[in-house]
Amino acid sequence: MFFSGNRDLNRYIDTIFPVTNACAGDDDPSKINATIGSFYTEDNKLMTFDSVYKSFRSLGDDVYARYAKGSFGNPDFNEAITRFVLEGKVKHHRVIPVPGGTGAISTGVGVCLERGDTIIIPEVAWGNYRIIASEFSLKVLTYDAYDLEDMFAKIDEAERVFLVINSPCQNPCGLSYTYEQWKMIIDYLNSCGKEAMLMIDVAYIDFAYNDDYKKYFELFNELNDNVLVMIAYSCSKAFSYYGMRLGALFAIQNDEEFLDLFINQCARRARTTFSSVSNSAMTNVADVLNAHLDEYLAEKEDCKRLLKERSYLFIKECDENGLEYYPYHDGFFVTLRFSDNRERDRVHQNFLDDHVYCIKVNKGIRVGICAIPVERIKGLAKRLKALY
Ligand SMILES: Cc1ncc(COP(=O)(O)O)c(C=O)c1O
Repeated sequence: MFFSGNRDLNRYIDTIFPVTNACAGDDDPSKINATIGSFYTEDNKLMTFDSVYKSFRSLGDDVYARYAKGSFGNPDFNEAITRFVLEGKVKHHRVIPVPGGTGAISTGVGVCLERGDTIIIPEVAWGNYRIIASEFSLKVLTYDAYDLEDMFAKIDEAERVFLVINSPCQNPCGLSYTYEQWKMIIDYLNSCGKEAMLMIDVAYIDFAYNDDYKKYFELFNELNDNVLVMIAYSCSKAFSYYGMRLGALFAIQNDEEFLDLFINQCARRARTTFSSVSNSAMTNVADVLNAHLDEYLAEKEDCKRLLKERSYLFIKECDENGLEYYPYHDGFFVTLRFSDNRERDRVHQNFLDDHVYCIKVNKGIRVGICAIPVERIKGLAKRLKALY
């Protein structure tokens, strides 16, 4: 009835927004809302960068109303976001604007894969990868993100390789690969003897703690011809821009002619799905990057400092109270580790009953430290441990 024969009709269940909404608008400090994937201030408000929204308010109505300059994006945005994200580290690249990091991943998948193809994703991962896989009728292989040998085994297993890596600041675990690990991954793909597509989800990259967190981009100048790298960039976290729906998909490959064709295919896909992204969002982000960069970077640095303080405090208290969590390097979330999902469900329910709202993930419970003020993180690990 109406749906195509092979459509996955299992009900889509949103695992995040209902839990978030259950505790929204409640300022009771004993209730902990650790569900949110957005950065909140110390006084419990969604953090918005002044540099971004001052610029946004200065745009004319015609800028808000106007269509973007087509599916390929506005040249000033494309130029500014490329400079900001790639920092001149990569030789052969192209970019297209998309609606957020989600739009970047979905566009890349839509252009490269078809029904029955395989997508390789982390075992403990952002839930949306699986929904995208099911929407495109893909087979899913999973790897333990902490075990490169397991990742390589899955690369061997797939006929065509489409590997998704979410690093730095992996959601939900906070894993970031080192330069040496990235070198091993790129070397493996270079010599895997088949076509390999690597989708790097960098949704949280602008909050990475390591000073040299983009050094691994230089490895993209050593790709063999069998490898296509795609970078899914999201403006959502970087510019406090969650609802504005802006991101960018970068393609990196040795063959410039291929890159033109690839972006052309992405533009065709864009034209038939979302058409183009918001003109005012592109104009705004280009203006921030071109005219207010120092102010913006200073604001972002303050958030990073706060995130570090929150995460290190929570981890320290987890250690003191014997709470097991996935090894955390940086990022918006710390995830408590469970080997058994039934045990996870039991503990998660105990958390809810005590008004600590967290998100269930495969083999874990995600704690969104990005949205919890330092004062409320103090003592949280002890409180959680008592609920096991
Ligand atoms: C791992 C990861 N990738 C990508 C995204 C994409 O976000 P958006 O589509 O809002 O830019 C998110 C957002 O939560 C995320 O957590």
